[in-house]
Amino acid sequence: MKKSILITGGAGFIGSHVVKLFVSKYPDYQIINLDALTYAGNLENLKEVEGAPNYKFVKADIKDAEALKTIFESHKITDVIHLAAESHVDRSISDPLAFVMTNVIGTVNLLNVAKEFWKGELDQHLFYHVSTDEVYGSLHDGSFFLETTPYDPQSPYSASKASSDHFVRAYANTYKMRTVVSNCSNNYGPNHFPEKLIPLCIHNIKNNKPLPVYGKGENVRDWLFVKDHARAIDTVFHQGKPGETYNIGGFNEWKNIDIVRLLCQKMDEKLGREEGSSEKLITYVTDRAGHDLRYAIDATKIQQELGWEPSLQFEEGIELTIDWYLANQDWLDHVTSGAYQDYYSELYGNR
Ligand code: NAD
Ligand code: DAU
Repeated sequence: MKKSILITGGAGFIGSHVVKLFVSKYPDYQIINLDALTYAGNLENLKEVEGAPNYKFVKADIKDAEALKTIFESHKITDVIHLAAESHVDRSISDPLAFVMTNVIGTVNLLNVAKEFWKGELDQHLFYHVSTDEVYGSLHDGSFFLETTPYDPQSPYSASKASSDHFVRAYANTYKMRTVVSNCSNNYGPNHFPEKLIPLCIHNIKNNKPLPVYGKGENVRDWLFVKDHARAIDTVFHQGKPGETYNIGGFNEWKNIDIVRLLCQKMDEKLGREEGSSEKLITYVTDRAGHDLRYAIDATKIQQELGWEPSLQFEEGIELTIDWYLANQDWLDHVTSGAYQDYYSELYGNR
């Protein structure tokens, strides 16, 4: 059966890298990118594949079950890679319901429609759910998150992602759907929306604006280059065992303040500024409510069982990322001015 893969959230940060990888690497697959184009969806991320014969964009909301049915039927969807989500923790603190609606209800809609559409042949299709390490909670000792670590979400965002993970596993158990879940650590790289720490700092350093560091900057995150996450998703999609969970990460922990200092130092060099000048922009601000202290993924299982490992060291990835943002000022200007949201109508008219 020729694969017709529905990738949800393909106009977002990680989704767009997954779409570009699959469209170019698998010309025999039909890739259907479903995205509601919320503030985080940006079709400018996908310029490279816009005209590819095996690529199609469909604007739709996963909260709309009827729209999903139509898409499954008209594109004869064989597999799903589900990334669409509300993804920013700070937004989940100010508007938790939006996260329940998209991350929980939207995911259950997608599961229901897939289950009905694949009725009688559930063993021939795969529902791949892309999730986060935040579902495991916050670490306060030197341990790591394993696939067997009990869920302990601490923010409305992670609670909504944990709920969606549970639904996916419940559908595997109850209806015998073929599902796989992966839980990844913090991603960074090109096309990252500048509300998140790394692109926000790159943008603010460039424009000599304050760098807001929450609390004391002591919180630890485990960073992975986005293209390595996309490669891991490719690996799990093709080789992952149905019913399994895979943790994805690069064993690369950094305190927030150290990342911000590294960005200042690299940007001073690249912008020809006096050493230490960007560090003066660092501003300690009120901490995030319920701020998780530390995340750290143990990625041994995916490395040993599926042979995936990161291709880039952090220093290399950060250089590439800064260079990308400096070379793509248009992308950043369109995002910060809101002009990126006009791109859909330029491309697709009123559809
Ligand atoms: P993002 O916010 O950049 O992109 C999300 C995309 O989903 C956007 O294009 C948006 O338009 C779309 N979307 C949102 N609501 C939708 C809806 N109701 N219907 C259809 N489309 C909708 O997010 P991201 O950082 O690329 O994350 C993608 C996925 O990976 C998420 O599920 C997230 O939980 C997970 N994840 C992210 C990270 C990270 O560091 N960014 C790490 C691990 C896992
Ligand atoms: O761990 C995976 C998760 O990583 C994903 O599931 C989420 O979708 C993704 O947004 C990310 O969540 P974080 O909350 O870790 O990412 P963020 O970039 O928002 O923040 C990283 C750290 O930096 C966190 O400890 C909060 C801090 N921070 C963030 C911002 C935006 C600051 O100190 N200042 C800031 O301005």
